[in-house]
Amino acid sequence: MPGLRIEGYVIVSADGMLANADRVMPMELKFEGDAKFFTAALDRADLIVHGRHSHEGQANSPQRKRVVLTRSIGTIAPDPSNPRATLWNPAGASFESACEQAGVRSGTVAIIGGPAVFGMFMDRYDTFWLSQAKRVRLPGGEPCFPGVPAKSPQQILAAHGLKAGEAQILDGANDVSVTPWRRRG
Ligand SMILES: NC(=O)c1ccc[n+]([C@@H]2O[C@H](COP(=O)([O-])OP(=O)(O)OC[C@H]3O[C@@H](n4cnc5c(N)ncnc54)[C@H](OP(=O)(O)O)[C@@H]3O)[C@@H](O)[C@H]2O)c1
Repeated sequence: MPGLRIEGYVIVSADGMLANADRVMPMELKFEGDAKFFTAALDRADLIVHGRHSHEGQANSPQRKRVVLTRSIGTIAPDPSNPRATLWNPAGASFESACEQAGVRSGTVAIIGGPAVFGMFMDRYDTFWLSQAKRVRLPGGEPCFPGVPAKSPQQILAAHGLKAGEAQILDGANDVSVTPWRRRG
C-alpha cells in the first residue's frame, strides 16, 4: 500500500534483548525519557501493529486503532474485546487487507513487536527507531529480532537496507538513546 509509512519502535538492552528470560519487559528497561518518546510517536501514528503479548499499555491506548497478530483466527476478524482493534493472522490474509479492515489506507503505521512481528516487517520499514539502554544487560533474555544475538540489532537493520541517522539522547544519566535507522534512498 503506497500511502502507508512503516515505522518500528523498540527499546533493547546493551546485549540486544527486549525482555528478560521470563519473556517480560523488566523495570530495568523502562525509562521516562524513552516512554515519553514512544508515547508521542504512538499518538502521531494512524495504526499500531503488534503481537498478542506486546500491548503498549499507555493512557491513550484505548483511542488507538490497532492490528493484533494472532493464530486464534484464520484470517481477519474484529477483536471482540476492543472496538478499535482488528485481529490478523498473516498466514491467511495480507497486511494490506488487515489495514483496510482497520480502516487505514494511508498514514503512519507503528510496529511495536514482539520479535517475530519486527522480523516480518524488516524489508518494509521506512524508519526503525532503535532505543538502547547501554548499561543494561539481560543475559538469557528475549532477543529483539530474529538473528540476535548471533548478530547485533544494528547489524540486522543494516543488512535489511537501513542506515543509522543521528542518535538522540533520551536519558543521559542512564546512557539511553534512540537512533533512527532509515531506508537508503
Ligand atoms: N522492549 C521493548 O520495546 C518491547 C517491545 C515489544 C515487546 N516487548 C516485550 O516482549 C514480550 C512479548 O514478546 P512475545 O515474543 O510474546 O511477542 P508478541 O509478538 O507480542 O506475542 C506473541 C503472540 O503474537 C501472535 N503472533 C506473533 N507472530 C505471529 C504470526 N506470525 N502469526 C500469527 N500470530 C502471531 C501469537 O499470538 P497467539 O498466541 O494468539 O496465536 C503469539 O503467541 C513482552 O514481555 C513485551 O513486553 C518489549
